[in-house]
Amino acid sequence: MSGEAGRPKFSGKFGMIMVAAGSAVGLGNLWRFPYLAHEHGGGLFLLVYIVLVVSFGFTLMITEMAIGRRTGKSCIGAVMELSKKHKWLGWLMILPPALVVPYYCVIGGWVTNYAFQYGTGSGAALTDPDYFETFITCSGDILNNPITWFVVFAVITFYIVSRGLEKGIEKSGKILMPLLLIIMAFLLIYTFTIPGVMGSVGEYLNFDYSKFSMDTVIDAAGQMFYSMSLAMGIMVTYGSYTNRDVHLESSVKQISILDTGVAMLAGLLIVPSVMALGGGVVNSGPGLMFETMPLVFGSIAFGDIIAFAFFALVFIAALTSSMSLMEVLVAAMSDHVGWSRAVARKRASFLALVLILIVGLPSCLGYGPLEAVQVAGMTILDFFDFASNTVILPLVAICTCLFISFVVGTDAIVEEVEINGRFKRKKMYLVMIKVVCPILLALILIFGVVDVFGIDIF
Ligand code: TRP
Repeated sequence: MSGEAGRPKFSGKFGMIMVAAGSAVGLGNLWRFPYLAHEHGGGLFLLVYIVLVVSFGFTLMITEMAIGRRTGKSCIGAVMELSKKHKWLGWLMILPPALVVPYYCVIGGWVTNYAFQYGTGSGAALTDPDYFETFITCSGDILNNPITWFVVFAVITFYIVSRGLEKGIEKSGKILMPLLLIIMAFLLIYTFTIPGVMGSVGEYLNFDYSKFSMDTVIDAAGQMFYSMSLAMGIMVTYGSYTNRDVHLESSVKQISILDTGVAMLAGLLIVPSVMALGGGVVNSGPGLMFETMPLVFGSIAFGDIIAFAFFALVFIAALTSSMSLMEVLVAAMSDHVGWSRAVARKRASFLALVLILIVGLPSCLGYGPLEAVQVAGMTILDFFDFASNTVILPLVAICTCLFISFVVGTDAIVEEVEINGRFKRKKMYLVMIKVVCPILLALILIFGVVDVFGIDIF
């Protein structure tokens, strides 16, 4: 069971960690995690989250990476190699990235616009409470139109992916991820010098037991799951590009630390500033990023520069995630269609770009001209988000756990991890993959669906 000859590989462990962490650190870390932590009792949520990352997240991530490295194939090929009969699971795995990457690029476009406006000195306009509304409803001119920025963002993603693993993805990861950490450190230091902000830090870290409930655990688990980029075939794909001399267990640890660290620091950056300067209401999603944060920037010294740094950070986080999402599709296509290696990447990335532009356009127009189009009571973008993240992701993960536990056998994973020494958390791993993970995932699935349709079960 070895990978085919000529398969691209990461040039080293550093590149692999940066790229995998780049896929994990994304919009989820920046605009959902801070809100959830604030909603669910601050420090207590952080604690629950960490426990889930080192148990549940660890198990799923190491499984995916081991599957990829062992077979040397991206998701469809990898599943087929382990069991031909279960090929459908590989196909199911590429469905969420295919649904997510188009709208991820739409949001990436919004971020690019904000970074551009602040970077070119037009930041004042963004503080206007109506700016975001005018922008996403496609009522602005060409430079203030979401379609323009959606195309720009998608083409940048395409450019990186089409240059190949080493020259495109790995090189970008090695430059962009350290840059992201530097900007983050700069913003944190600056934030703490703003009068009044330091006093609100306690609000974020405080253990508020009254906000703790079953929902806290389920929400933390769902967030962790999306944030660590699980069940979308990406960790399988990156595993297939990883050399045998890389220690998988320590790699997963490092990726988790980076992902969780950035999420927590984002909370530290956002929650206290919004409490002190943004009107005090910590919301999530577009409202937080594109309405509340500009208010904060509007009220501080050097606001435009800080805002530019902030949106550059969000841009990097979004770009390193979108390139990974696109890579799942490109890798699956190039492995499957009989193209030669020389042309496969270029053709596959071009097709992925076309898919993004066609499928993403309705999401892009969904707040303006297509506002009347609702699917199951949601805007088009929200529906894509719901279908993939709330329904398909947990399903794929449950199937992966059962597939490894009962079809392939956990020995295959353990053997792969032990290539480089002892599997330290083996006992925990075996219990998690066979019992705890499937149960927790089923709960995430049930609660997620129930929640969206407003059914109250407690
Ligand atoms: N982890 C990313 C975020 O936090 C989103 C994401 C989920 C993702 N699955 C992925 C990115 C797979 C790349 C590949 O925003």
